[in-house]
Amino acid sequence: MKIARFSRIGFILAAAGSAVGLGNIWKFPYIAGEYGGGAFVFVYLITVLMIGFTIMIAEMLIGYLGRKDAAASFAALAPQGKRAWSWAGMMGIWAGLWIMTFYSVVIGWILHYIGVTLSGLPATVGEAEALFGTMLSEGIGTQLFYHTLAFVVIAAVLLRGIKAGIERLNLVLMPILFAIVGGMFLYALTLEGFGQAWAFMFAPNWHKLGSEAFVVAVGHAFFTISLGMGAILTYAASLPKKSNLVESSLSVVALDTLIALLAGLTLFTFLYEYGSAPAKGPGLVFISLPAVFFEMGGIGTLFALLFFIALAFAGLTSAVSLVEPMVQYLIDRYDYSRLRSVVLAAGFFYLVGIVALLSNTEAFGGILSFGGKNFFDWVDFITSSIMLPLGGLLMALFVGYVLPKSEVYAALHESMGRGFALWYGVLRYVVPVALLIVMLNLLGIVRF
Ligand code: PHE
Repeated sequence: MKIARFSRIGFILAAAGSAVGLGNIWKFPYIAGEYGGGAFVFVYLITVLMIGFTIMIAEMLIGYLGRKDAAASFAALAPQGKRAWSWAGMMGIWAGLWIMTFYSVVIGWILHYIGVTLSGLPATVGEAEALFGTMLSEGIGTQLFYHTLAFVVIAAVLLRGIKAGIERLNLVLMPILFAIVGGMFLYALTLEGFGQAWAFMFAPNWHKLGSEAFVVAVGHAFFTISLGMGAILTYAASLPKKSNLVESSLSVVALDTLIALLAGLTLFTFLYEYGSAPAKGPGLVFISLPAVFFEMGGIGTLFALLFFIALAFAGLTSAVSLVEPMVQYLIDRYDYSRLRSVVLAAGFFYLVGIVALLSNTEAFGGILSFGGKNFFDWVDFITSSIMLPLGGLLMALFVGYVLPKSEVYAALHESMGRGFALWYGVLRYVVPVALLIVMLNLLGIVRF
């Protein structure tokens, strides 16, 4: 059993640190751009607020009541004969490590771009494109170096455990991150491009919303609030005895949504203001943005530096939460030392991450691509669009149908009051139906 527990604020910041990540600042703006803004953003927001928030409370509850790693918490709570539920936790634990294989590579790009900013930003979009493209397709050494650096930092934090490692990291980095994103947003507010950015993000354009956009929006809603893989569950196992799960879930969801919207509005304002065509895909913040920062002059370099630092912080605080579930599992299940568990878990994402990294390169891209996507994109797609929603569905079913209602009620009624019946109803009926539609859609059975 663990002794170290989060403090109240430590837990909220750590859970928010897990949620606010590359998903918010790197991924959200480019997928919103790719799928046309408005309607896509709307589906994402509805999913986060209705389904995400509902399942978040359920996921926290499993950890809070189970008090063990993600797999064992399910087993501890399931009635006799239903221990197989621990597989739901197991799937999540693996999903986290798989996400880390590309997540760490992207953190590496960000660390590299802190250096790029200091040595001189690319002056045009063309130059920026060449810079990023060359790094991606030929810069194996550079990427490997920064992927390794990310691995070392993440492992070092994890080695220190929940309190001295994870909590401390978040207590320091998260306030800085909020300040940077908030400050840049205030500056964006003063620019004319803000109106266009606002229209892009919020004007409904339903004709652009096809099946794929729908699935990606739902998948992203899970990804961005760290849902369905046991990260939140694992953190919640270290909550103090009397904690308010509803308030914590609400804070995490609200902070995450706020940062995504602020970051999205800010980046699109900059892009519109300085007339740069948004680069499609993952290159948005690495291609369009650096050129825009250059256009801005002196303040642009400062912004670029702050921006990449904020992005690195966001990535690191999420990364530790992607690996900790496996670390905790190895400690609980096999009685391994923390050192050994961290080496195994981090070693896995480090090595497979090299494959993800190579799959973007010219030399290895060919053999590491199949079915129209390379290894890197496959891992992203399978984890965020399939494993996380599936994990979320299983958690909802577990709390809604397997745990005795009396137990769930006892844990939550004080903080929920009369809202309990509503929450329980949404969890039991709305969430499974909604996620089923997503799954059928994904399998191509339902299309719209
Ligand atoms: N929420 C993180 C992000 O937005 C990613 C993440 C997913 C972290 C799942 C933990 C669990 O970048």
